[in-house]
Parts: sequence; structure tokens; C-alpha cells
Amino acid sequence: MRILGIETSCDETAVAVVDGNKRIVAERILSQLDDHHPFGGVVPEVAARAHLKHLDRLIADTMAEAGLGFADLDGVAATAGPGLIGGVIVGVMTAKAIAAVHALPFLAVNHLEGHALSARLSDDLDFPYLLLLVSGGHCQLLVAEGVGRYRRLGTTMDDALGEAFDKVAKMLALGYPGGPAIEAAAKGGDASRFALPRPMRGRAGCHFSFSGLKTAVKHAWAGLAEAERTEQAAADLAASFQAAAGDVLVDRTAHALVEFAKSGPRRPALVAAGGVAANAHLRGRLAELAEARGVRLLVPPQRLCTDNGAMIAWAGIERLRLGLTDGLDFAPRPRWPLDPDAPAVAFAGVKA
Ligand code: KG4
Ligand code: ZN
Repeated sequence: MRILGIETSCDETAVAVVDGNKRIVAERILSQLDDHHPFGGVVPEVAARAHLKHLDRLIADTMAEAGLGFADLDGVAATAGPGLIGGVIVGVMTAKAIAAVHALPFLAVNHLEGHALSARLSDDLDFPYLLLLVSGGHCQLLVAEGVGRYRRLGTTMDDALGEAFDKVAKMLALGYPGGPAIEAAAKGGDASRFALPRPMRGRAGCHFSFSGLKTAVKHAWAGLAEAERTEQAAADLAASFQAAAGDVLVDRTAHALVEFAKSGPRRPALVAAGGVAANAHLRGRLAELAEARGVRLLVPPQRLCTDNGAMIAWAGIERLRLGLTDGLDFAPRPRWPLDPDAPAVAFAGVKA
């Protein structure tokens, strides 16, 4: 089985062909960093236009490298949400066109399910498992019960963790995207210099909140005199922020492991996925937790953590195997929770 996967929900135009043996036959990832750099963040309209400009060529290049024609494929999968809707429409329309012309199954993939299943592409992993999904738009703890079946244990009440990394990096003028910039700066920083809060730590349940931490960073930076705002100070604050984020992730994930064990296996596998899972410090903290609890930790390799086409192709394979194909009338979804039954979190500005 071979599937073409297309990812256009944010600022990466990504394409891959993956086969049923978990082989990434060919792939292309084009980052739009330069397009968005002048604005210090992703501009939806700019992103949509860039996807439109590059997607056809990336698909052609990927297929050529794979040595395949469209007729050799078993299906075409595209991220159909959630995400910046202009870009999602570009990917979905392209996938539908290929599927229609070559009479192939079309698979509308939830971007979050792409992240959720990426560990089953990189490793041998059975359901159920505990999933910590940490990306630019999401911060959730979920039980992955099966393909298309997720039970949310916790979510963020305000910012996603990746969003917090991006905003803190902007405050400290470390550049964009913020996650890798904070991680790099933190390497030379003293994580004990600034006392920052650990929001939600020790609280019941598995929800997250990062806006207070972000504000604390802002105040810490503003509290320094102009002359004190050195590169070293920025590194110290980046390290202090990253350490606080690590403490919160470990605490919330530890709660989720206990919660999961009530109804499932006592030692479920723990998967960390999404762009923030690319962070080596946070991976290390989760590895310590997993070791202490005697659970297996799986974190896909970095290039499978940040947005990519292979995870979308793989989710397509998983869905096609179960006969979960979609009609060409499938409408792209700007919002698309993995667990639609999860109760709303009692807070303003909640993210599903
Ligand atoms: O999964 P992803 O590529 O896109 C979304 O679906 O959101 O995640 C992007 C997010 C950004 O907020 C970025 O700053 C963050 O992941 N990120 C990181 C690192 N690499 C990417 N955050 C912390 N440390 C990193 N090394
Ligand atoms: Zn993503």
C-alpha cells in the first residue's frame, strides 16, 4: 500500500509518499519561514498563497523521487483541518483533484490525528497509549484508544505551549519560530536565575495554563534595566521559562498517567508528539518521568514531530486499512477536536 500525504495547515508545505511497511518512500518539506519572517509570525493569507504557489511542484518532485505515477498510489490523504483554513483548502482541493482524476480513495485527515499516530509510524506501538500533544496550536493529554478514537484528559485553558514558546521568544527578541530559538538560547542560560510560576502544578486533573507563565516572563524582562537586558539575561530567562514549562508538563503528564491507569493498562506507553516535542530538554524531562513510573516513552524523531507530510500519509494508511475513506464533498474544517465529546473547560478563550 502506498499513500500520498499532503500537509498545508500552517506554514509548512509538506508532501510525502509512505508505504504500508512504514517506509517514507519520498518526501518534501518547504518551510515558509522567509515569507513570514518580516511579520514575526504566521500570516494566514501569506501562508495560503505560498501553499498554492509551491504545492504542485512539491508533489511532482516527491512522485518523481518515489519513481511513481499517481496510478501507482492506493489513496491520497490531506490535512482537512484544524488549521489556517486558506492553506487547508489548498491541500484538500489538490488531493481531491488527484483522487478524482485517478479514481483513488480520498482521505480527509485530522492534523492532530497525524501527530497522534506519528509514533506508530516511527515505532511499533499498540493502542491504547497516553498521548501528550504539544504543538503551536494545541496542548492536550489524550488517551489514544484507536484510529479515530481519542479521549481527552486535559487541554490548555489559554495558550498552547508552542504558542507560549513563540511569544516568549518574541519578547526576548530571540527570533521566530520561537521554540528552537528558546531551546538554543537556553543552552547557555542559568535556569535558576528567574523565579517563574508553574501554573496548574499540583492541581487536580490534567489541564494546562500558560498565559500566567508568559506574563511572568514579560514582567521579569521588563523589570530589568535597559543595560541589564543582555544576551546572557535573555538566555537565563529562556532557560528559566523552559525549566518551568518542563515542570508543568511533567506534573500534568504524571497526573494523566494515574488517571489513565484507573481505566486502562497500569503502565501505558507514553507518546509525546507535535512540534514542541522536538525540544530536547522537554524530552529529557519526560524521559525521567517515564523511567520513574516504569512506562515506555516514545517520541518520534524531530522531523516527524514538527509538521510533515509523512504523518498525514501514515494517518491515511491507518484510515484506509479500516475503510475510513471520505467523499469528495468533505468540507475542510478550521476547528476539528480529536475528542468532540470532551467537556468545555470552564475558562474564557478556551481551546478545544
Ligand atoms: O506541530 P507544529 O510543527 O505545528 C503545529 O501544528 O502547531 O508545532 C509548531 C510549534 C511552534 O510553536 C514551535 O515554536 C514549536 O512547535 N517548536 C518547539 C521546538 N521546535 C518547534 N518548541 C520548543 N522547542 C523546540 N525545539
Ligand atoms: Zn502540527
